[in-house]
Amino acid sequence: MSTGASLQWGGRFSGRPDPELLAFGSSLEDDLILAPFDLACSRAHVAALRGGSIVSPAIADALDAALESVTSELADGSFFAFARSSGAEDVHGAIDARVRALAAESGEWLHAGRSRNDQVATTLALYVRDRARNGRKLAVAIGRDALARSRSALEDRTLLAATTHWQPAQPVLLAFWLGAVAEQFVRAAARFARVENDSAAHSPLGSGACSGSSLPLDRAAAARALGFGTTTRNALDAVGDRDLVLDLVHACVRALVATSRVAGELVVWCSPTFGYARLDDAAATGSSLMPQKRNPDPFELARAAAAAGVGDLAGALATLTGLPLSYHRDLQTTKAISLRATENSLGTLGAFARAFGLVRWNAARLNAGADGAYTVATDVADALIARGITARRAHALVGGAVAAADASERPLDANDLRSLSNACGLDELQAPLRARESVEGKRTLGSTNPDALRASIEEAARELDALAGQPA
Ligand code: ARG
Repeated sequence: MSTGASLQWGGRFSGRPDPELLAFGSSLEDDLILAPFDLACSRAHVAALRGGSIVSPAIADALDAALESVTSELADGSFFAFARSSGAEDVHGAIDARVRALAAESGEWLHAGRSRNDQVATTLALYVRDRARNGRKLAVAIGRDALARSRSALEDRTLLAATTHWQPAQPVLLAFWLGAVAEQFVRAAARFARVENDSAAHSPLGSGACSGSSLPLDRAAAARALGFGTTTRNALDAVGDRDLVLDLVHACVRALVATSRVAGELVVWCSPTFGYARLDDAAATGSSLMPQKRNPDPFELARAAAAAGVGDLAGALATLTGLPLSYHRDLQTTKAISLRATENSLGTLGAFARAFGLVRWNAARLNAGADGAYTVATDVADALIARGITARRAHALVGGAVAAADASERPLDANDLRSLSNACGLDELQAPLRARESVEGKRTLGSTNPDALRASIEEAARELDALAGQPA
């Protein structure tokens, strides 16, 4: 072979490959992370070769032993040096080269009936299953932490001015905001669980380059060895399909966007101007110039990570547009982007989980904020509506009362309630004038009312327990 023993092809070439172009085509640095999954995939391929009596039991044993050695070399780190010096184009070629070096002639049988195309698809499916599981566990952990903090804020009955348009809107419990944080991670965990399930359904191994094999590979044995439910139905589709890894990146990026929104809000809450929260010393960072600073860097980085993830998701998807069915080298780019996006996302979720646990609330500031800026105005309007005044008239009347109070820089008070009841020809009007009464007066399921909230928290906790145990 004129291209060097490390390449898996070359028999039909007489000239040497251009080294720059060979380096351009290499995916080794991107896909070394897949080594443990390729090893599992290679072991399963040996099972398929053995099951189909394509190799003798002695050769199959030798292949298994060599793969076992590579597994140890991966664990002790020595495989990486070998892979980088092997001249292999990718992790699959490097493992094949190592097996050939370790098992001599028996090693030459490993690639019988397989292509890197079905190998990449299978290895990626195994990677997706593993990382979707990690993502599910991270999302469950964040959701549970948010619920734990929600329960304790519910005990304290700490209040918060919920905002819309960043303007004070209505009083809620801080526990309700924390419950809203948790809900996003319940959904994120469920999304990861779906991907985890899907990635365990069909084994692409044995699809070959694009049409299957004329060797009697025992595909079912390989699928069983890898924990797949069954085998893929169509080899042409199986080698070119990247749905699983794209679903994983989607689940990652959706979790990151949720994280980014919470992080973005906490960045503002941690500002002394707001003063709702303070990031513990373990998570806050200082300025090299301004001695007084306590910056919420982990949340700023988590906020930005979502933007990079969205770009990666779009980029990975775009590599498939217009691509013919089956394998094309473009898919190497899909893979590189997807692996990067996944690792970055899971790293960010882990960092967010730590930083989120290091946020300390300032209950006095939160409670004070909840009572300011006429957050009870809707409750006063609701009280009029409950007494038979139309919604439009109630809105207009309370809006007028707010304008008058605002002009003299005072909150709504009992005199306002009296004027409103007089204007409507009602006897005494009962309505919340304080944030706490507003919260307690909420009646709907899913509201910030403490009893409703307690029920919501426990229901979300049960969903997280189910998601923690196993994929949905
Ligand atoms: N490095 C390639 C990838 O990551 C491996 C597949 C190569 N297949 C081929 N027919 N050239 O996708």
